Amino acid sequence: MIERLGGKEEIRAAVAEARREGKSVGFVPTMGALHEGHLSLVRAAAARTDLVVASVFVNPTQFGEGEDFEAYPRDIDADTRMLSAEGVGIVFTPTPDVMYGDGPKVTVDPGELASRWEGEVRPTHFTGVATVVAKLLNIVRPDLAFFGEKDYQQLQIVKRMALDLDSGVGIVGCPIVREADGLALSSRNAYLGPEERALAVAVPDALNAAVEAVCWGEHDPRALEALLRETIASREGLELDYAAVVDPVTLEPANDLDSPKRAIIAVRVGATRLIDNCELKAADV
Ligand code: PAJ
Repeated sequence: MIERLGGKEEIRAAVAEARREGKSVGFVPTMGALHEGHLSLVRAAAARTDLVVASVFVNPTQFGEGEDFEAYPRDIDADTRMLSAEGVGIVFTPTPDVMYGDGPKVTVDPGELASRWEGEVRPTHFTGVATVVAKLLNIVRPDLAFFGEKDYQQLQIVKRMALDLDSGVGIVGCPIVREADGLALSSRNAYLGPEERALAVAVPDALNAAVEAVCWGEHDPRALEALLRETIASREGLELDYAAVVDPVTLEPANDLDSPKRAIIAVRVGATRLIDNCELKAADV
């Protein structure tokens, strides 16, 4: 039976008890509205640790003004059932008040890694993410924490934050889970109307076009970026925020394909923002 706990001390006590029993602890933080992408993280955690703890918390501090904090889909009962069916032992469901009290007054500065791409469009977002993840890691104190490559910049920031703040937690990145047509699963896909949903497939199509071009021998990052842009521009109704080929760790623009790089893309479809990414690897690397 899954235990649903809303208090920090309850979580600490439950995890401490598991530790006394010699169990290792895996942690999967989420904002709920769970789908197969989230569940793939839970399965990865269950494969590597004895007790899986998940959190469901729509974190207000990572939403900017005018973003979808209020509209963000919430269904904690359905989420708890899904987590229970996957064998999650504990789900942490704090309120904003439990999480923050009158804070946060001290926050985590995610630094340089947060300055580009998503950080440029959403200037306060990664401070909110880094701060809440640091707090969650301090509350749960897992051995390993699992994050999706879907939010690739977030994953790199969390990895570096865990390292730089000496959290002692291993951060594990997990592959993107996609729909049959290639669209990456996302809680925000629920916002897409049928026409927007049909258009959205251009995002994975653009990434696939870049992967194919690399196979044919195109190794120039600028040419690959142009191809990403053209694929998006060819479908009316899509607006590109950015498309770039970057270093997989520093997220700086790449100048060659001598080692594996990452293609990252963000597109607006109506009022919905979609982000996606994939590895670009030359055949001889
Ligand atoms: P959320 O968007 O709910 O995502 C929780 C985790 O699920 C993240 O690590 C995300 O990358 C992963 N995920 C989402 N869609 C995925 C997909 N299609 N395939 C694989 N993994 C996927 O990311 C957040 O919440 C928050 O920022 C959080 C880290 C919980 C901090 O508030």
